[in-house]
Amino acid sequence: MKGIVFTEFLEMVDGRFGEEFCDRLIDAADLPSGGSYTAVGTYDFNEMITLVEALSRETGKAGPDLMKLFGEYLFGSFSKRYPVFFEQKTSCFDFLTKINDVIHPEVHKLYPDAQLPHFSHDWPDDNSFVLVYQSSRPFAALAEGLIAGAIAYFGEKITLEVEDLAAGAGTMARFNLSKEPGAGPDFSSDFGPDPGHD
Ligand code: HEM
Repeated sequence: MKGIVFTEFLEMVDGRFGEEFCDRLIDAADLPSGGSYTAVGTYDFNEMITLVEALSRETGKAGPDLMKLFGEYLFGSFSKRYPVFFEQKTSCFDFLTKINDVIHPEVHKLYPDAQLPHFSHDWPDDNSFVLVYQSSRPFAALAEGLIAGAIAYFGEKITLEVEDLAAGAGTMARFNLSKEPGAGPDFSSDFGPDPGHD
């Protein structure tokens, strides 16, 4: 797993709980790498699981919930660090079609040793979208958080339901997204007050 994922995780922990807590967490996790990550380095993905487990022990929150929270945070970081993927801001569903065919392949060009999951999608009608996550690594909860982050980023009224397809292993999941019919980003303020009709 690329170091950027680890450095963002530690930045999130540092921002929420402070530097001392962050240092303590790294010590408690007893990581093979020692925990001094660089953004371009590559580390065993199991260290991310170990870090989330350590954070779970420290905070009393469930590991998968923390992984989801981190996914939401990470989406925000990606949107700032890699603005090129966010320039043609269309819609959340449109963006999600691009993960597997555009974004992750570009990530792979940038970091040839990146280990990326596979996504397939189905867009049966304007208001429904299905994304299926598949990986040899157990990051379905991270994917869920990233998708939640994308929904928040586009500001559309979309509900997200998750179906576990790997009996708790975290390696395969189906995400069903439903948009409220007619709901979209709220541009009403751009057009001034509604003049009303006679
Ligand atoms: C909603 C959108 C996205 C989803 C659901 C998603 C999902 C994931 C997941 C679950 C992983 C962990 C690896 C695995 O599961 O096997 C991952 C890795 C990664 N993704 Fe994405 N991703 C999204 C968007 C992006 C964007 C916008 C970028 C930035 C350009 C990005 C860059 C990366 C990088 C750098 C990794 C680490 C690769 C590695 O560990 O070697 N992703 N992605």
